[in-house]
Amino acid sequence: MTQTQQYIDANRDRFLAELLDFLRIPSISADPAYAGSVRQTAEWVANNLRQAGADQVRLEETAGFPIVYGEKMVDPSAPTVLVYGHYDVQPADPLELWDNPPFEPVIKDGLIFARGACDDKGQVFMHVKAFEAMLASGELACNVKFMIEGEEEVGSDNLGLFVASNKDLLKADVILISDTAIIANDIPSIDVGLRGLSYMEVAVQGPNRDLHSGVYGGAVANPINILCQMIASLHDEFNHITIPGFYDGVLDLSASDRAAMAQTPFDLEAYQKDLGIQSVHGEKGYSTIERASIRPTLDVNGIWGGYTGEGAKTVLPSMAYAKISMRLVPNQRSEEITRLFTEHFISIAPKGVKVSVKAHHGGEAYLMPTDSIAYQAASDALATTFGKEPVPTRGGGSIPIVALFEKELGVKSILMGFGLDTDAIHSPNEHYGLFNFYKGIETIPHFFSNYKQLSN
Ligand code: BES
Ligand code: MN
Ligand code: MN
Repeated sequence: MTQTQQYIDANRDRFLAELLDFLRIPSISADPAYAGSVRQTAEWVANNLRQAGADQVRLEETAGFPIVYGEKMVDPSAPTVLVYGHYDVQPADPLELWDNPPFEPVIKDGLIFARGACDDKGQVFMHVKAFEAMLASGELACNVKFMIEGEEEVGSDNLGLFVASNKDLLKADVILISDTAIIANDIPSIDVGLRGLSYMEVAVQGPNRDLHSGVYGGAVANPINILCQMIASLHDEFNHITIPGFYDGVLDLSASDRAAMAQTPFDLEAYQKDLGIQSVHGEKGYSTIERASIRPTLDVNGIWGGYTGEGAKTVLPSMAYAKISMRLVPNQRSEEITRLFTEHFISIAPKGVKVSVKAHHGGEAYLMPTDSIAYQAASDALATTFGKEPVPTRGGGSIPIVALFEKELGVKSILMGFGLDTDAIHSPNEHYGLFNFYKGIETIPHFFSNYKQLSN
C-alpha cells in the first residue's frame, strides 16, 4: 500500500480543502427550504466521484432526493465492495448555540467544525479520497460501487425502494459503511450492532378551543397536563418501559457476552463531565454501555402546546403534542412496537381528552457477525493503522437501511466508522477530528487489500 499512502501524503491539503467545500453546501434533507442545496450537494458528490476516477457516475432520481451512484470494476474475478453513506445532514438549529455558522467550516484545535463534518459528509468523503488514492496508485484490489444517498436523516424511504428494484446494479460481496464511531482515538473499535427505531407523534385534544385558565382551569382536562401524565407513565420506577409486550421480542445477551461488554473501556467520569451531568440515569440492572446499546429505550424528542411566547399568558390549551422515539434491539420488530405503542397510548387516555397517534419512520436493528472475512479485513485494517486490535462494540444509533440491505440484497454490512461519540453529531458545534479524517482515508485501502486477499 506504499503507493497509495504516498498519494495520500502528497494530497492531504487538497483533500481537506475539498471536504470544506462539501461542508459548505447546506444539505438539510428535513427542511424543504433547502431542497435546492440538497440537490446541489448530490451534484457536487457526483462530480468529485467522477474526478476521482469512478465510472458510470450518475444521479439516480427518486421521489425525493437523488442517490449518487458510481463504480469502478477492475477485475470480474475480484470481490465487489459497495460503499454506502449519506450526503444529507440534520438541521443545524438551535443556530445561536453554534460558535461558528454551521455551514462555514472552521478548523480549531485539530477539529473541523460544521454540520455534517462527522455525520456523514466527512466520513463519506474519506471513501471517495481513499478510492482516488488507490486508483491513482494502481492499487485498487476490489471492484467498488458507491451509493451515497440524500435522505438518511429522514428515514431512507426512497432508498429502500431503489434498493428493492436495483438488485443487479447493487450486487456486491460486502457493504462498507463509515457512519459510526470508535471508542477513542487510541482505542479503535468496530460497531457490530445498530439499534432499530419506531418514531411516533402523538396529539392530545381537550376542549375545542384555548380557554381562560382561570374561568375553566380545574374543571376541564388540560391536554398538556394529561400528556405529561401519560408520558410519565410509560416508564416505571426502575425505568422499565410499561407498554405491554414491549420487551417480548428482546434478545437477551448471555452472561458471557455481558461480561465481555463490561470489559469495554469506558470512563464514566469523562462521560459525565463531557455532558455536564452529575450522574447517569437509566434502566435498573444495566450498565451505561448496555443502556445505550443493547437495551431498548423510549424518549420524548420534543413536546409542545399552549403558550410558549414571551411573558405570561393565562391559557388552558386545546391541544398538546409530543414526538416520541423508541430505540429497538435485535428481534424486536419496528412495526409490532409501533402497533403496541399506539394501542397502549390510546388505551391510557382519560375520558376528558381525545388522543391520536401517528407513526413516522421506523427501522430494524442489526447484528453483524464477527466471524466473517469482511470483519477480519476491517479488524486487520484498523489494527494496522492504529497499531492496536479493535474492540467489537454495539452502537446505540440507527441506520435502518442496513437491515434492509441484508433483507433485499442478501449482503452484510461492515460498520467501519471513525467518529467519536463526543463529535456532537445532530448537536450544535458538530465536529470531526483531522486525525479521524486522515486515519479513515489511510485505513480504508487496507480494508480493500485485506478483503481481496482473504477472499482468495
Ligand atoms: N450516523 C447516524 C447513526 C449512528 C450514529 C449510528 C452513531 C451509530 C452511532 C445516522 O445518521 C443517524 O443519525 N440515524 C438516525 C436514524 C434515522 C432514521 C433518522 C438516528 O439514529 O437517529
Ligand atoms: Mn449518519
Ligand atoms: Mn445522523
